[in-house]
Amino acid sequence: MANVVVVGAQWGDEGKGKIVDWLSERADVVVRFQGGHNAGHTLVIDGKVYKLHALPSGVVRGGKMSVIGNGVVLDPWHLIKEIETVQAQGVEISAETLMIAENTPLILPIHGELDRAREEAASAGTKIGTTGRGIGPAYEDKVGRRSIRVADLADEATLEARVDRALQHHNPLRRGLGIDEIDRDALLAQLKDIAPKILPYAAPVWKVLNEKRKAGKRILFEGAQGSLLDIDFGTYPFVTSSNVIAGQAATGSGIGPGAISYVLGIVKAYTTRVGEGPFPTELLDEDGQRLGERGHEFGTTTGRKRRCGWFDAALLRQTCATSGMTGIALTKLDVLDGFETLKICVGYDLDGDRLDYLPTAADQQARCKPIYEEMPGWSESTEGARSWADLPANAIKYVRRVEELIDCPVALLSTSPERDDTILVTDPFSD
Ligand code: GDP
Ligand code: IMO
Ligand code: MG
Repeated sequence: MANVVVVGAQWGDEGKGKIVDWLSERADVVVRFQGGHNAGHTLVIDGKVYKLHALPSGVVRGGKMSVIGNGVVLDPWHLIKEIETVQAQGVEISAETLMIAENTPLILPIHGELDRAREEAASAGTKIGTTGRGIGPAYEDKVGRRSIRVADLADEATLEARVDRALQHHNPLRRGLGIDEIDRDALLAQLKDIAPKILPYAAPVWKVLNEKRKAGKRILFEGAQGSLLDIDFGTYPFVTSSNVIAGQAATGSGIGPGAISYVLGIVKAYTTRVGEGPFPTELLDEDGQRLGERGHEFGTTTGRKRRCGWFDAALLRQTCATSGMTGIALTKLDVLDGFETLKICVGYDLDGDRLDYLPTAADQQARCKPIYEEMPGWSESTEGARSWADLPANAIKYVRRVEELIDCPVALLSTSPERDDTILVTDPFSD
């Protein structure tokens, strides 16, 4: 039975939410396997907009199981608020339809404080431009073996011991940063208060998923962020603190890699980035402004303006390789309507040498100049197109050239934020 992993193939905000929602009709279970509420996934269904941060994007369809896997870092107070917001929009969420892995580490208020304090203290050039949601500090605690995990909420003595262990690390750190020490009793009271709201959703996700797999259920894994924000393969240190690439779907949920039969990369027809860090094809001119305006490129989580640039096929070849993409969903093709000429980066010039990938060393990245290929644009509208026949010839040529340059076929094409403005070429769930 087919199980599909969806991963962002650029710097996030590629349209993963829309595509996961669309694909979830074919799935039984939708699983988040990394990241946290730094993600902002937008779904538009018959004009109604849903913005999801920690909840999987399958939650909006009735009858699907939504799962938060152990690879996620979870802010329980945020989650409860998000559940209430989505419920107020008419979506049903209960312990029957939402499951959280017991071994999921929690994001505490101290993580957000630390994240923001570090960003404020950083000088220009060293700021990462995080979402300020405490993601980095929460993952540091996970690796440092001092996290409070969902299961710890069920037992007072364990919870107290875990809090003490975390404080042993955090209080000296906070003193150094000039932040007040943590009030142990207040933190424990907050945790004891949220525990009964979270625990009904807690489950051994690894076990449930493996049983579902054996029963032939279809599992859809929903990545957050994008491959170029991956802690190992992204533009370090301007990255998020988790592995984002497809392999993480296995470790972040407790299912073997053999369960994954299809990796779908979500690819914007141009490039955007929020926050600091290298961006070789960034456009600081009118074209960049136009992409931002036509694409409404403002962050779903922080509202920040996204930086915009031309499509970078060299980076795409890289991210297709690190995730082993089977196919891609190309989104926001409609945003390119009306450009006279389109540019695609096919490689870089580094001190006179031609490279077909972005090198790892920061100084080399900074010296890489994009090498562009130009293509004629189209004046017709592709917005809302639902079949190839609706696409102008030059738009088809652009899509075909992208496929050729990145050596990966287009499985889905998206032409507006609406769920149904989607062209299916190959079904990732077909066995
Ligand atoms: P995600 O983080 O990858 O889920 O993406 P976001 O939701 O943060 O950002 C993508 C934005 O583009 C959202 O506002 C979507 O509604 C919108 N979107 C998705 N697909 C398309 C498309 O094909 N065309 C247009 N114009 N907008 C799209
Ligand atoms: P979705 O799932 C775009 C970026 C931040 C910052 C860097 C580190 O909606 O695609 P963090 O708060 O994770 O420590 O910030 O990562 N970032 C995203 N950019 N889309 C996202 O998620 C992002 N999540 C984090 O802007 O540059
Ligand atoms: Mg987003």
